[in-house]
Amino acid sequence: MTTVLVLNGPNLSRLGSREPDVYGSQDLEALRTVLTEDAADRATIELRQTDDEAELIHWLHEAVDSSTPVILNPAAFTHYSYGLRDAAALVTKAGIPLIEVHISNPHARETFRHTSVISGVATGVIAGFGFDSYRLALKAVIGFN
Ligand code: DQA
Repeated sequence: MTTVLVLNGPNLSRLGSREPDVYGSQDLEALRTVLTEDAADRATIELRQTDDEAELIHWLHEAVDSSTPVILNPAAFTHYSYGLRDAAALVTKAGIPLIEVHISNPHARETFRHTSVISGVATGVIAGFGFDSYRLALKAVIGFN
């Protein structure tokens, strides 16, 4: 069965208690549950979170080496990490889908969030739909049927 890597960047371990007005009141375990249910018998969901840029980059290298599609919420790294961008480019240049997702709509927030250094090398971007951003990305990766 296909594995889908669902990678989450800094501070997303705090979902549930972090700015619930922006990010909702559900935590990463709830996200894991809903994605695992959506994937059913079509994919295995491998959901991870790290606050460490190097670890996130290494996970993208792993995606390249194992040809594993990626759903990536780069969190604050979105806005400035060229290292993460280069790693994301390795994924998509290998022909492997990488969907950038955001729970909130960064374009409706502070100006510094309007720039994504990841979007230019992502297969696609989904933002502003809460956890449904990830669910839509999963549909894009495994198909809409
Ligand atoms: C986020 C948006 C980013 O600007 C922010 O730094 C995050 C979460 C989102 O999912 O809406 O940590 O990626």
